[in-house]
Amino acid sequence: MPTGSRRQWLIGASAALAAPRLLTAAGAGTPLIVTPGQTEGPFYPVKFPADMDADLVRVQGQAAQAVGQVTHILGRVLNPRGEIVRGATVEIWQCDAHGNYNHPGDSGHKRHDAAFQGYGRTQLDADGRYAFRTIRPVAYPGRTPHIHFKVHAPGIGRLTTQMYVAGERQNASDGPLNRIRDSKARDTLIVVLGEAGDLEPGALKGTFDIVLAV
Ligand SMILES: [Fe+2]
Repeated sequence: MPTGSRRQWLIGASAALAAPRLLTAAGAGTPLIVTPGQTEGPFYPVKFPADMDADLVRVQGQAAQAVGQVTHILGRVLNPRGEIVRGATVEIWQCDAHGNYNHPGDSGHKRHDAAFQGYGRTQLDADGRYAFRTIRPVAYPGRTPHIHFKVHAPGIGRLTTQMYVAGERQNASDGPLNRIRDSKARDTLIVVLGEAGDLEPGALKGTFDIVLAV
């Protein structure tokens, strides 16, 4: 069962998303930019955690909260016409605040944060929206901060990609990010993080809408 605080942020996340938001500056009839795919990388879970809900900051059964700055990532999954892609599952995974993935291929670290879930999965709600509570992604050697995403809409489409944070110095030199040559497409992966406000005081939030080529 979700804790009281978990319920609170889920309710808050829905409220924060209630206002319609223009996805792009495109005029009526102009298709939305399809979210570019990115490499899955070597750290997609080989074994899913027992707790794999949308709150990565809390691991069920653990009193401690994950190290790092709490960050809410909210968004929708759409088709290029701006319509909701119903039935989609959204997965995310990222390293902990020390730069370590919860993955045997990234083991041996002394400072692994066991209180960070590392992976989460959620379904879109009736309005086509998803919400994750996680930590602000951090850099690790060779990579700018990012969160891995995988979206699967059965019978419709799937996408594996990565989300980046606006203003990060290493964005300019990050290999996977800059392999996207089209700057408009690249920009769709870069999310501005701001204060979460009433959603969760002291936390950050950002909106990452995903457009599937369906
Ligand atoms: Fe990664």
